[in-house]
Amino acid sequence: MSIDPRAAFAAEARALDAADPLAGHRDAFAGAESPLVYFDGNSLGRPLRVTAQRLADFVTAEWGGRLIRGWDESWMQMPFRIGDRLGHLALGAAAGQTVIGDSTTVLLYKLLRAALAERSASDPARVEIVVGRDDFPTDRYLVEGIAAERGARVVWIEVDTTRGVDADLLRAAVGPRTAVVLLSHVSYRSGYLADAETLTRIAHEAGALVLWDLCHSAGSVPVELDAWGVDLAVGCTYKYLNGGPGSPAFAYVAARHQSALTQPIQGWMGAADVFSMGPRYEPADGMRRFLSGTPPVLAMRAMEDTLDLIQDAGITAIRDKSVALTAFALRVSDGILAPLGVTLASPRDPAERGGHVTLSHPAMRAVTARLWAQDVIPDYRDPRGLRIGLAPLSTSFAETLTGLEAVAEAVRAES
Ligand SMILES: Cc1ncc(COP(=O)(O)O)c(C=O)c1O
Repeated sequence: MSIDPRAAFAAEARALDAADPLAGHRDAFAGAESPLVYFDGNSLGRPLRVTAQRLADFVTAEWGGRLIRGWDESWMQMPFRIGDRLGHLALGAAAGQTVIGDSTTVLLYKLLRAALAERSASDPARVEIVVGRDDFPTDRYLVEGIAAERGARVVWIEVDTTRGVDADLLRAAVGPRTAVVLLSHVSYRSGYLADAETLTRIAHEAGALVLWDLCHSAGSVPVELDAWGVDLAVGCTYKYLNGGPGSPAFAYVAARHQSALTQPIQGWMGAADVFSMGPRYEPADGMRRFLSGTPPVLAMRAMEDTLDLIQDAGITAIRDKSVALTAFALRVSDGILAPLGVTLASPRDPAERGGHVTLSHPAMRAVTARLWAQDVIPDYRDPRGLRIGLAPLSTSFAETLTGLEAVAEAVRAES
C-alpha cells in the first residue's frame, strides 16, 4: 500500500507546528489569522498587531502632545538607541556602532565612499572596489557610480546564481589594489549564506575594508559583526525586522574606524554641534557623523516591536526555526514539485542557506501571477525563479505546505 505524500506532509506540518517553540509568536502578526499564504516576509515583513496602537499613540501623545520638545526629549537619540538595541539583539554589535539612518541604498553609498576614500588615502594604489556580479542591483549600481565618480575600478566576481561569493572566489578577486569589498551576507536571489567571518578575514589579509549588506540576514540569521572583525555593514529593516514599507536602514561602523571615516553627505545632523549652526561642517564624533538630515522618527517606530519579539524569542531560536522551515520546504518541493520539473536554485546545505529558497521552472513568472490572484504571495526573480521567503516568526509549517501545494497546482496549470 503506498502512502499519499500529501497526507504524510500534512501530518509532518502538524507535528512540526505542535513542537515549534515559536509558534505562539505568529498570532502577534496582523493578518496571520487569514488563509492568505505569505512567502514574502524576506521582502516586506508583516506588521505586528501592537504596531497599529504604537503608531496611533505616537501621533496623538508624542507628536501631538510634545510637539517640537520631542526632539530634545527622545527623538534625537532614537537612531542611536534603536541602533544599539538592534546591534545587541541581532547583529553582535556592542553599543555605539549601529545607527538607524537613511535608506539602505543611501547608507551603502555613504559607507562605500567613506571606505574607498580612507583606503586610497592611506595607500594610493588601492583603487579597486570588489563586488559580486549577482549582488542586488542597488549594490552594483552604487559601485559603478562611485567608481566613475572617484576614478576607481570595479572588480566583478562572477558567481553561480544558485549560490554566491565564497572564499575561493573572493581570494581570486582581492589583492594589493583592493580598497573595499562589498558583499551580501545572504544572496537576495539564491538565499546563499556567505561565511562572513572567513570572507572578512580574506579581505583583511589583502589589506581591504569589507562592507556587508545584511538586508536578507538581519533578524533571521545570527550575525556577529564584532566577533567576525567586520568593518562596515548596512541592512534593511522592512524585511525580517517588520519596520514597514520604506522603513529606514541601519549602518554599522566598527568603533576602530569611526574617527577615520568621513561620509560624503555632509548634513547638519552629522555635524559636531548640531544646533550651533556654524559656518563649516565638522563631523561629529562616533556614529552621529554618518547621519545627514533629520531622522525619520515615525518610520523608526514599528521595528521596535520586532526587537521586543526578538528579545523574547532569541535570535538562535529564530534561526533554528528558519532552518526547519526551509528544510521542510525543500522536502515538500522534492516530493511534489520536483516531479513537475521544478528544480532548486538555492543551496541544499542548511549551513549555506538563509531564510528563503528559490525554486526554478520555466513557467514561474506566470505561476507567480496566478498565485497572487489566489492570495498565495511568493515573488518572482529572473531567471525562472520563484522565491519562497519563510519569515520564522510569522510563518507556520502548515502555511508553508498550503503554499507549496498551491505552487504545484499553478505549475501544472501553466505547463
Ligand atoms: C540585498 C539588498 N540590498 C539593498 C537593497 C536596497 O534597499 P533600499 O531600497 O531600502 O535602499 C535591497 C532591497 O530590497 C536588498 O534586498
